[in-house]
Amino acid sequence: MSKKKERVFVCGGCGNEFSKWSGQCSYCGEWNLIKEVSINTNSYGSRTKSKVGAGQMSKVVNLGNVADGVKSEIFSSKIREFDRVLGKGIVRGGVVLFSGEPGIGKSTLLTELVGKIGGLYVAGEESSGQIGLRVDRLGLDVNKFNILNTNSVDEVCSYIESTDKVYDLLVVDSIQVMFSEGVPGMIGSPSQIRESTFRLVELAKKKKMAVIIVGHVTKGGDIAGPKLLEHMVDTVLYFEGEKLSELRILRATKNRFGSTEEIGVFRMEEKGLVEVHSDDIDLVGGGGEKVGSALTLLVEGGRPILTEIQALVVESFAPVPKRTFVGVDYNRGQMILAIAQKYLGIPLYKYDVFVQSAGGLKVVDTGVDLAVLAAVFSSYKNKAYSETGDKKKKVWVGELSLLGEVRGVRNMRKRKNETESLGRVLMELKDVSDLKKMI
Ligand code: TYD
Ligand code: MG
Repeated sequence: MSKKKERVFVCGGCGNEFSKWSGQCSYCGEWNLIKEVSINTNSYGSRTKSKVGAGQMSKVVNLGNVADGVKSEIFSSKIREFDRVLGKGIVRGGVVLFSGEPGIGKSTLLTELVGKIGGLYVAGEESSGQIGLRVDRLGLDVNKFNILNTNSVDEVCSYIESTDKVYDLLVVDSIQVMFSEGVPGMIGSPSQIRESTFRLVELAKKKKMAVIIVGHVTKGGDIAGPKLLEHMVDTVLYFEGEKLSELRILRATKNRFGSTEEIGVFRMEEKGLVEVHSDDIDLVGGGGEKVGSALTLLVEGGRPILTEIQALVVESFAPVPKRTFVGVDYNRGQMILAIAQKYLGIPLYKYDVFVQSAGGLKVVDTGVDLAVLAAVFSSYKNKAYSETGDKKKKVWVGELSLLGEVRGVRNMRKRKNETESLGRVLMELKDVSDLKKMI
């Protein structure tokens, strides 16, 4: 096949490709993220090419004959929280993109993984010595740990192709520092990242080896971000949390082998990441119920999580008051503030508002709306809910409508039971204005 260079324009926000440049991505709506990329069509083109030549036919396979094989295709990571997120475990020949912000603990978790089940760790960012120190500090078995210190994907592929050693797992840390000879672009450029990933995907399929690729996510949707790769891999995992808090949540945003409902919970400690196994997670402990605080109960992948929403409402001296949301969706937050202004009569246009979830835990559940509102109202009033009504600590769950109604959300029964078993009371409001009676 002739090597042909093709020019495409790729959006750094969502990874969509276009034939023409434009200022705004028509898919995700982001501005100024579309950049020109040149790619070699002989490698990318081959992805879509049928393996079946002219005159040949693909074989029909009866699933009964492969069912037993399918079971052995999956093996446990020996990290329960990791297995939980993946579905059953690690899939042979499957490729996982493991992404998260720098410093969140990706290398730590994957070092633990390789140390537990054995495998090859391709270290592109750190030296073997540095990884060795970490393996030692985490108390892992050095004999199971194989390190290949390189930035070259060609070297990784030729090593795996030529060695007699069989690896169940290959970890590449990180894709942003890998390059392939003969591909245009510098290390970290979209063409390098895509070619490297493509080569690793092929290697995984050919060798029936599980591959985990680390990708740093940079805030602001850098073009070299892993978003480009999401469609090329089987599973996309995000490792998140606030660096200052020790809680880390692992979530799947795409999973060809299981659901994306489950989450894995870890705590970053002196000796690495410790799994949090409990069926219900209490991020609050005895805390909460202060001015500007409202507790809420999330249900993530069937696991109830009691957490806290904190708000700070202060008089603004800026021409446009500040709105900051950490862990809470920005647009949803804006909407809740508008509801507060209209139905609770708070003149928020002259206040700066800061809202955050405990530990920066990303909250996607709309049931948290009421807690955000309750926290904002408490801060504005400078009063805590503990001062009024039921002496039991209150938990706020409900989705807000633009008409000022409070609606129930999924798993309401479960949340109520869980709240009660924690010795707290679930506040069931019908209308936003009911809050006025509470404080
Ligand atoms: P790291 O895994 O290097 O992050 P990433 O690969 O996502 O960039 O983790 C970085 C942080 O984790 C670092 O600031 C130190 C901390 N850490 C611990 O607190 N305990 C540990 O046992 C280890 C290995 C790291
Ligand atoms: Mg790292």
